[in-house]
Amino acid sequence: MEIIKTVSEVRDIVKKWRKAGHSIGLVPTMGYLHAGHGSLVEQSVKNNDKTVVSVFVNPAQFGPNEDLEKYPRDIKRDSELVASLGGDIIFKPEPEEMYKKSNATTVKVEGLSQKLCGITRPVHFAGVCQVVSKLFNIVTPDNAYFGLKDFQQYVIINKMVEDLNFPVKINPCAIVRDKNGLALSSRNVYLTDEETKSALSLNQSLQYAKSLISSGEKKAFFIIDEITKIINNVPYSKIDYVKIVDIDTLDDIDIVEKKYAVLLAVYIGKTRLIDNFTELS
Ligand code: PAJ
Repeated sequence: MEIIKTVSEVRDIVKKWRKAGHSIGLVPTMGYLHAGHGSLVEQSVKNNDKTVVSVFVNPAQFGPNEDLEKYPRDIKRDSELVASLGGDIIFKPEPEEMYKKSNATTVKVEGLSQKLCGITRPVHFAGVCQVVSKLFNIVTPDNAYFGLKDFQQYVIINKMVEDLNFPVKINPCAIVRDKNGLALSSRNVYLTDEETKSALSLNQSLQYAKSLISSGEKKAFFIIDEITKIINNVPYSKIDYVKIVDIDTLDDIDIVEKKYAVLLAVYIGKTRLIDNFTELS
């Protein structure tokens, strides 16, 4: 397993793989990999001849007051994990390799990017779409793997692929949780032990919402209220949003029937966490 730093080297390797008739899977990440990322790599390795994992803390998707500088990094551990799972290369460019100072092109998925997380993070999804489209053009994968943990990101990437005719299949991957139900996230490392206990309320509230829905509750406002109560009841929590939306449009729905997603974003102390459950889960 090799770590490749330049676009031209990736292109040379991909060219050789294509000549040999290999299929290619891409797992885009920002590194500090955990078992959630690992499950994406496993699926790629299983379903493609070759797997590229990108590790790039993408400056374009961080707002001015966000955690770009302090975002955790550990390439040694990342490469051990990718190698152990059978990944073929890690693409780990420096920011200057990905973005020329003169860059003038942006990729925006209008509408979907302005909702939910897009309200508190207005530049985020344009940055995600920019880097993911560059990665698609550099690696030219047959398959790309995205976690449902970032449900809005998954919906937006699908729309971008459809609108811009990228020849890649987007594969959704289930949320991986720790034994207490906390969705794995590179940002969990920011949490103190006390905050980690509070963070469990996210999944607990979603599980309760799930049980309400399966026992016939359909009123979105009621379910949202119950989730809100559970989260507000633990220390250090501050809700950004709790929403029940249509999975295609991400618009609020009043009656929970088909095609819904229950999504939330919550600050635990200074750390902003997201979680959800959807019909795809
Ligand atoms: P990152 O947060 O590193 O996540 C990389 C991929 O891993 C995403 O598709 C994310 O949904 C998935 N993932 C993270 N935690 C997961 C979990 N607990 N279970 C399952 N999948 C999980 O998302 C990004 O990076 C970036 O925005 C990126 C797409 C790489 C663009 O820079």
